[in-house]
Amino acid sequence: MGKLAVVLVFAVAAAALIGQRLIALSHLSLAFRELTQNHLPNCHLIKGIVTGAEDITVLEDGLAFISSGLKYPGLPPYSDVPGKIYTLDLLSGVGPVDLHIRGDFDTESFNPHGISIYIDDKDGTIYLFVVNHPQNNSLVEIFKVLEDENTLEHVKTIKHALLHNVNDIVAVGVESFYATNDHYFTNNMLKTLEFLFPLHWCDVVFYSPGAVKSVAGGFASANGINISPDKRYLYVSDVTDHKIVVLEIQKDGVLSRVKEVAVGSLCDNIEVESETGDLWMGCHPNGAKLLRSDPSDPPGSEVIRLQNIHSEEPVVTQVYMDDGRVIIGSSVAAPYRGTLLIGTVYHKALQCDLK
Ligand SMILES: *[C@@H]1O[C@H](CO)[C@@H](O)[C@H](O)[C@H]1NC(C)=O
Repeated sequence: MGKLAVVLVFAVAAAALIGQRLIALSHLSLAFRELTQNHLPNCHLIKGIVTGAEDITVLEDGLAFISSGLKYPGLPPYSDVPGKIYTLDLLSGVGPVDLHIRGDFDTESFNPHGISIYIDDKDGTIYLFVVNHPQNNSLVEIFKVLEDENTLEHVKTIKHALLHNVNDIVAVGVESFYATNDHYFTNNMLKTLEFLFPLHWCDVVFYSPGAVKSVAGGFASANGINISPDKRYLYVSDVTDHKIVVLEIQKDGVLSRVKEVAVGSLCDNIEVESETGDLWMGCHPNGAKLLRSDPSDPPGSEVIRLQNIHSEEPVVTQVYMDDGRVIIGSSVAAPYRGTLLIGTVYHKALQCDLK
């Protein structure tokens, strides 16, 4: 072959590789999904929430905890206000209340992401676990909730090499939890490469004092995590694979993969309804629009409910969809007795009635 022919062959091969990557990327980001509206009755925006409600969890007595003001590590910040934890009482309607943080804790760099509640059955103490990213780091903070004083008392900060890109957590003891890593690499350039060429190297880590280990791997990007009401199973959203993975908890925190359920959307946090065991997810219907976050062509929002997940025929239902005119970038959907709270990564939060 002449030199020109060799150059041509390489150019064609490179073009084919780039083309193939672009097609794979538009598939994994659902870039072609149309955004529509499938609204719920009696929705209103939650007053005062304007810099996100990335994660929400609701206690049995109707007190919702909201993590707000996330600056996703490695991306330019969406806002420059410090993150906050709010409560909203769904029974009395009081809130959102900005919780005061007490103890040796830097509130200026507070950057809350996934949250989880653990109630100590010995004395009823409520603990709030928060993924925190000060200066783009990944830490897990444990707070004691002093409900009558609208205060979080800082108990401890957990930092560990295995907890390197933590997205979400589920607490299973006063000092133990499972956490998801949404990337394998910590270097920004390698993180981008990992996104372009999904490696399925992300994992779930079990943490308890004196025992920290990676207990499940093979995720493209492990995002939301939660636990079944009987505490036997964990559910993890593999966001860029558009599926929910079911894992059974074995002895010593070890997990075994049971099954996967396709959801057709980029699902973020998972809430589990205690009475039914149903999974509720805030999802990104079009990830390409989320990455661009162009105000004139905003990313939409989608809420998906997953019923009978352990049966042969799980039911996946779209409960809510918006094209970005009402709320942008839904990341969590928390049901409570006929009410649904929908939170977003960096935008507003919505409260609706379920039909
Ligand atoms: C985190 O990283 C992003 C992207 O590199 C940067 O824009 C931002 O300023 C960093 N934030 C802090 C608090 O260092």
